[in-house]
Amino acid sequence: MSNINEEYIDEYIRNLVPDRNELLTELEKYADENHVPIIEPEVGQFIKTIIRTKRPKRVLELGTAIGYSGIHILESSDSIEQLVTMEIREDIANIALENFKKANLEDKVELMVGDACELLPTVDSKFDLIFIDAAKGQYNLFFKEAQRLLNDDGIIICDNILFRGMVATDELVIRRKKTIVKRLRTFLKDIMETEGYTSSILPIGDGIAIILKG
Ligand SMILES: C[S@@+](CC[C@H](N)C(=O)[O-])C[C@H]1O[C@@H](n2cnc3c(N)ncnc32)[C@H](O)[C@@H]1O
Repeated sequence: MSNINEEYIDEYIRNLVPDRNELLTELEKYADENHVPIIEPEVGQFIKTIIRTKRPKRVLELGTAIGYSGIHILESSDSIEQLVTMEIREDIANIALENFKKANLEDKVELMVGDACELLPTVDSKFDLIFIDAAKGQYNLFFKEAQRLLNDDGIIICDNILFRGMVATDELVIRRKKTIVKRLRTFLKDIMETEGYTSSILPIGDGIAIILKG
C-alpha cells in the first residue's frame, strides 16, 4: 500500500506498463524476495519516456542497489554513453556489477562505491540526466550538488518524494520518520522555489519529482 493513490489506480496503471525483458523481470523477482527497494514499473516507464524525449548522453544515478534502474535507464536509449552510479553498500554494489555484466552494459557503467554525500563533491564532469534515489534525508544536499553537475537543459528526477504519503499529511507520519519527512518537505519547497528551474511533483509510485534546468 503506497498511500499515494487508491490501490486500484496503481494496479490499473501498473498492468498497462509493458512487460520488462527477462533480466529485468528476474531482478524484480530478486528484489521482491530479498526486500531490495527498486523503482516501480510505472516509475520506470516514466523515466524511459523522459529519456526517449531528451536522449541524454551522460547520466548520473544516486542509489544503485542491484543495478535494476541503472540497466533500465541504459536500455531505454542508445543515446546514453555513460552511466555514473553511486552506492554506499559494497555488498549490494558487487551484485549490481554482476548484473551490469549480465546485461552487457559494464563498459558504459562507472560504479562508485561510497556515500554519495562524500563522492559527489569529487565529481566535476557534467550530466544531462541525474536520477536521485538514495538516502531520502539527504535530498537537499543531493539537489545542491546536482545543480552544480547538471548541463544546461538537463533534467533531475527524484524518487520516493512523497514517502508513503507521509510528506503530504501529518496523519500518516510515523515518529521515527519525522526528520526525513521534514527534510523532504523542505526539499520539495526548495525545488519549486529555486530560480532557473521548473519542477513538477507527480503522484506515481512513491511520488516523483521532475526538475528541469531552465
Ligand atoms: C531505493 S534503493 C535504489 C534502487 C535503485 N535505484 C533501483 O531502482 O534499482 C536506494 C539505494 O541507495 C543506497 N544509499 C543510501 N544512502 C546512500 C548514500 N548516502 N550514498 C549512496 N548510496 C546510498 C542504498 O544502499 C540503496 O541501495
